[in-house]
Amino acid sequence: MKPTDRKSGLTILALAGLCLAGAGLGALAQDYQTPNPPLSAVAKLGKTLFFDQSLSGSGTMSCASCHDPARHYNPANGLAVQLGGPHLDQPGIRPPPSLAYKMATPAFSIGPENSAEEAAEAAPMAEASGVALANQTTPTAGPVAGQPVVKAEAAAENAVPQGGMFWDGRVDSLEEQALGPLLSPFEMANTNEADVYQKIKKAYGPQLEALFGATVLQDQAMTLSEVGFALARYQVEAPEFHPYSSKYDAYLRGQVQLSDAEARGLKLFDDPKKGNCASCHLDKMTGDGQMPNFTDYEYEALGVPRNPAIPANADPKFYDLGICGPLRQDDFAKQPQNCGLFKTPTLRNVAERSVYFHNGVYKTLEDATRFYVARDTDPASIYPKKPDGTVDKFNDLPESYKGNIDVIDAPMDRKLGQPPALNEAEIKDVVAFLKTLTDGWDVKKP
Ligand code: HEC
Ligand code: HEC
Repeated sequence: MKPTDRKSGLTILALAGLCLAGAGLGALAQDYQTPNPPLSAVAKLGKTLFFDQSLSGSGTMSCASCHDPARHYNPANGLAVQLGGPHLDQPGIRPPPSLAYKMATPAFSIGPENSAEEAAEAAPMAEASGVALANQTTPTAGPVAGQPVVKAEAAAENAVPQGGMFWDGRVDSLEEQALGPLLSPFEMANTNEADVYQKIKKAYGPQLEALFGATVLQDQAMTLSEVGFALARYQVEAPEFHPYSSKYDAYLRGQVQLSDAEARGLKLFDDPKKGNCASCHLDKMTGDGQMPNFTDYEYEALGVPRNPAIPANADPKFYDLGICGPLRQDDFAKQPQNCGLFKTPTLRNVAERSVYFHNGVYKTLEDATRFYVARDTDPASIYPKKPDGTVDKFNDLPESYKGNIDVIDAPMDRKLGQPPALNEAEIKDVVAFLKTLTDGWDVKKP
């Protein structure tokens, strides 16, 4: 978080440019006290597309099927992975993340530690600073004079993957992301791009021409890219994707006190010697008044246990390696140091999720929190046993990648037999705090 760590804000400016293009800047306002401006015409189209089941191969699935607005864009059911495909019987390999609070996600990059969070702080959507950022010609996020060495060292020694969409960062923006689910065989399962194009042309032809010009439909790639753009605009503009209306937000604004348990939980969440959660799930308002999004956008290998409820895991040779694939296939996927790393998710609305981590192995926040403190001190309580009776620690990664697992950051730096960083009562307190992160909390209620 040191200013010396700030890398050029150009990436995020470019991303912000995409986000800001084509719609009223006012729509970005996050001021909870003023009424939200209406959606732009493009975002309205995006909203219709988001709920349109006829765009799926099965004819019964829309984006909202897995990203339910009533659950803060989390899945509505408790399955580890969702079923999609033409007959809604094809399981995915990862749980859908919430779509809320994705708008400040920087593009994927390998950079010095903490640069993504700096970039994200400079992003427009966390607060009503969109206009200021868009007008900014020289990024303020450049290296600070007199201390460039620190930055260079950090880049060389501590280059960490950060940013990007999905658990593995394989696409850079919401625009690019949107075509993925429309084509994925275990999601909306259209046969190919031409298939999506034909459906779109038939159902939305005149609207697309009105918004993007009379010739747009002559170009399949252009039409699909505008569809992605419209879906992204909806997620960026619609206030329900980033309401900042949780009890914790009200607390940060000085409107309410936390209960004793919640306050204790926050302290444990922050304390570097206890939960240390806030070192990755950032929870402080920034100097310029932006609300925290509970992620540093960085990737870590935590070594969560394998989830037998995922059908793909029936094959002992199948491993979800995060950045290393199988879903990600670019050059980053070929680098062994990236294997097993997944993106730090936001914890906003986390109590509205039914399964936790990239493989949905845990179903309660207590279990998810206990994983962090028991993984090393009492692995027998976390992992199954091998046939020879020893604990099969880190059983969801091949042996060769176990060295990538984070054993440095507290509370994952403890040794077998040491006391856990959080006891059971403290785990309960952390969970009480996590429950203050659910949006829709009403200041007026007692
Ligand atoms: C069958 C369930 C399903 C449907 C339908 C679906 N998604 Fe998803 N979505 C997922 C899963 C699973 C992931 C995580 C995939 C991964 O990380 O590899 C995801 C991830 C995302 C992400 C990235 C979020 C993040 O945290 O990085 C976005 C954005 C998204 N979906 C938007 C959409 C849009 C827009 C649609 C409709 C066009 C849609 N989804 C339809 C299951 C679904
Ligand atoms: C070193 C960084 C780091 C620290 C410290 C950390 N987390 Fe995480 N957290 C992550 C990453 C990375 C993931 C996703 C890992 C995966 O799925 O494999 C994650 C996932 C989670 C999830 C699952 C969320 C979801 O939507 O599935 C919860 C809950 C969570 N963390 C809570 C905590 C709590 C509570 C603490 C403190 C006790 C904590 N984290 C400490 C990086 C961290």
